[in-house]
Amino acid sequence: LLQLVLIACIGYLWGSIPAGYWMGKILRGKDFDIRAYGSHKIGATNVLRTLGKIPALIVFLFDLTKGVLPTLLSLLVPFFYAAGWGPMLAALTALLGHCFPLFIGFRGGRGVLTGSGALLLISPLTFVIGLITTLGTIAISRYVSLGSIVGCLTTIVCGLIFFFIGLSQPTFIAKVSLPNLIFMLIGPTLVILFHYDNIGRLLKGTERKIGQKISTV
Ligand code: G3P
Repeated sequence: LLQLVLIACIGYLWGSIPAGYWMGKILRGKDFDIRAYGSHKIGATNVLRTLGKIPALIVFLFDLTKGVLPTLLSLLVPFFYAAGWGPMLAALTALLGHCFPLFIGFRGGRGVLTGSGALLLISPLTFVIGLITTLGTIAISRYVSLGSIVGCLTTIVCGLIFFFIGLSQPTFIAKVSLPNLIFMLIGPTLVILFHYDNIGRLLKGTERKIGQKISTV
């Protein structure tokens, strides 16, 4: 149990690092809070529309690593692995850390990139399929939020399929374990719920398209 508590703390603290928020402070000064603009989130999509492409790329990569590193730690260190429950917990707590960051009053992002970083290690095949459906949706619709939601649904479906194939064919290379299936069900469900305001805007036709600039002065 100790190792699970520890890995949950590590995942949450790691995920709590508010890269997008700090990027705003670095570029626009200490009084700037990116959460006052656009979608009021600290993720790369909101950084893109408020601060531009290069800052968004940096935040994009950083937020991905927030999912990768705690999950990798629990995969590599036997103490944290805990029969597969460690990686699942690291992934989930990193995602929650990004969405409810300790350091900036628990108001962060929606967890798409942090969750995706973890998914890359938990189920690489699902990551690739989800990437294709997400990018395809964004390319067609120009809505990042819609792409993210489609990516989440892809993850849930792939998780279930790969889990059940693995039950009947234990040698199936892309099989998903029970702890990993739990992450692949809970993680994307949370991320979809965290898009409730995007869903409202999509239905009303007021959601911003990718990169649509907003004024921050
Ligand atoms: O990563 C969140 C993305 O799907 C939507 O971001 O800022 O448009 O709400 P945003």
